[in-house]
Amino acid sequence: MPVSRDIVVVGAGIVGCAIAYEMARRGASVEVVDMRAAGMGATQAAAGILAPFIEAGEDSPLLDFAVRSLDLFDRLLPDVARDSGQPILYRRTGTLEVAADDRRMSRFALTARRLEQRGVRATLLDAAGVRGEEPYLSQGVVGGLLVPSQGFVSAPQLLSALAAAARRHGAQLVERGRVRRVRADGPGLVVETERGSLSGDRVVIAAGSWSGGIEVDGAEQPAPVRPVRGQLLHLEWVGAPLKRVTWSERCYLVPWDNGTLLVGATSEDAGFDERATAAGVHDLLQAACEIVPHGWTAGFAGARVGLRPASGDELPIIGPSRALPNLLYATGHYRSGILLAPLTAQLVADLVLENRADPLLAQTAPERFGLL
Ligand code: GLY
Repeated sequence: MPVSRDIVVVGAGIVGCAIAYEMARRGASVEVVDMRAAGMGATQAAAGILAPFIEAGEDSPLLDFAVRSLDLFDRLLPDVARDSGQPILYRRTGTLEVAADDRRMSRFALTARRLEQRGVRATLLDAAGVRGEEPYLSQGVVGGLLVPSQGFVSAPQLLSALAAAARRHGAQLVERGRVRRVRADGPGLVVETERGSLSGDRVVIAAGSWSGGIEVDGAEQPAPVRPVRGQLLHLEWVGAPLKRVTWSERCYLVPWDNGTLLVGATSEDAGFDERATAAGVHDLLQAACEIVPHGWTAGFAGARVGLRPASGDELPIIGPSRALPNLLYATGHYRSGILLAPLTAQLVADLVLENRADPLLAQTAPERFGLL
């Protein structure tokens, strides 16, 4: 007999764990199922950058989503740290985008004006100004754009704390092999895995790149999500750390408080191949040291690989299934799973537990891809 739960969340990555925490702390009975330990998919390779104004285009519906989600971090993280008893590295020390030519500086000037119209502080820096902010920058950098309100969070720490906090509120996390199918069973649903079945009143598919491998009864197709490989380097920085997230056209750098530096990220169509490659490591090192030559003195601590879940239009797929009642999707977060997780969790919990649909869900509705 399948084990019965109120809500089954498929996927224990950042999105699945954030949803589990949000629902469990509102009193729901939640079970999270994954084919491996929590956070071992795209989350473990995420740089955790919180930068809506870099990640989301000015006219993209993603921008509102990302800005609202970023606003939740200041309140959510202390709750998660308290409920889990675990520390979470979280810094709003700003982002510095750097330019190697005047064309990019002109773009920064436009962005700075637009941000100021939105009430977001942004400072345009010339060559001397940008080096005053960050002395390690190479001579090739001609200026930059500093946005003080952005920042980063340690994705592994946030994931671990969310999972522990969800457990503290009664959620269960189980490893059961790959999820193959979701089907109706009377008024509820059954989740079929490689190692048995689970049943629940509601099911949320939050399986990132693996969402597309789950058959849904009545749906024309599985969730249209494809993996986009991202390789990320972890370096042992020597000397005074960089002050903030630094971003060029070829890479980004994230300085952790323990003196290590993350360098990301490649963007590759490599199917479900989760290997780091010599080319990926080489290209990222070159890109990083092009803007910060001092990086060549760093120790090499390792490379991580994640498969970003990209939907057909690169926007997340969040909302109810039209094909199978009581099934919801929360997937396709592509490059922004960490940033979008808090708002995703809130919207899904509002929908499932309070029957409240935020207007933003119109932009993320699964049915834009047909009968899902
Ligand atoms: N959000 C950064 C990346 O996906 O590489």
